Amino acid sequence: MKKTLTGLKPSGELTLGSLMTIKQMKEYQDNYDSYLFVPDLHAITVPQDPQELKERIRKNVALYLACGIDPQKNTIYLQSENLYHANLSWVLECTTYMGEASRMTQYKDKTSKGENVSVGLFTYPILMAADILLYDADYVPVGIDQKQHVELARDIAIRFNKKYGNIFQIPEPLITKVGSKIMDLQEPTKKMSKSSDNYKGTILLLDDPEVAKKKIMSAVTDSDNTIKYDPINKPGISNLLTIYSALTDIPLNDVENKFKDTNYGTLKKEVASIVATTLQDIQTKYQSIISSNIIDEVLNQGKEKTNQIASQKLKQVYHLLGLER
Ligand code: TRP
Repeated sequence: MKKTLTGLKPSGELTLGSLMTIKQMKEYQDNYDSYLFVPDLHAITVPQDPQELKERIRKNVALYLACGIDPQKNTIYLQSENLYHANLSWVLECTTYMGEASRMTQYKDKTSKGENVSVGLFTYPILMAADILLYDADYVPVGIDQKQHVELARDIAIRFNKKYGNIFQIPEPLITKVGSKIMDLQEPTKKMSKSSDNYKGTILLLDDPEVAKKKIMSAVTDSDNTIKYDPINKPGISNLLTIYSALTDIPLNDVENKFKDTNYGTLKKEVASIVATTLQDIQTKYQSIISSNIIDEVLNQGKEKTNQIASQKLKQVYHLLGLER
């Protein structure tokens, strides 16, 4: 069976954008060997409050389950409970060129603002490659912003295989069809981001549904009053159409047709309503999960299984490199 693998960084609360990746994993869980982890080591590439991080890690797992991820069909685990990730990452760092790593646009964006950045932020895509290659994932469902990182993982795997022998499966990114990019409600040319400080622009999966409705109602649009999917000229309206389509699974074209003869107020109301019911449903499930011991059960199983797989893989890699006596 082919394998899918992905993770959502607990660097901030999960958003509607995160839900798109989770939904995609849910779609695949019946037909693929599915791995869904919490990339908590990735979260510390920027400073985190330890207590908050700890809470967010559990929240992530509870939200995976509340959004319909079946723990019987998915291997769910924490990156930090598997030492082999960081270990393989070191090996891969030694086979990655500075030039390659320096081309990563996410890193370039972050450094172009002149902020102080950690070395970890620079090497982060290589740790991501290790996350993927340890398990021989065939497919990696991610938002479009992570595509370049999956491509780096491919390049690293291809080169390693050529030089040392066929050991890694070459992964492919799977970009979500609609809503691979849900945009910020206040700045619709920017991705809706977990780490955004723009409270009104981001819908969190644990937002009070009434608050979420208000955020949709005050989303930035434009003044020409025609409803059309045109992300370049009408980013705000296009984003609302995308959200509606993503949450109802109605194709974007049909959504556009449904609303084209209405007005912005109607569109916003309908989007607000579907967002609120979606959140309500997730949160009801979340409440019963977060207070049960299912999270620990699932994580213990995931930890054991993935440590076994990863230790085997690293042993083979070490063997190929001559790291043995
Ligand atoms: N870098 C991803 C993000 O920021 C998270 C991530 C880490 C990931 N390791 C991964 C995603 C491996 C897919 C596969 O969203």
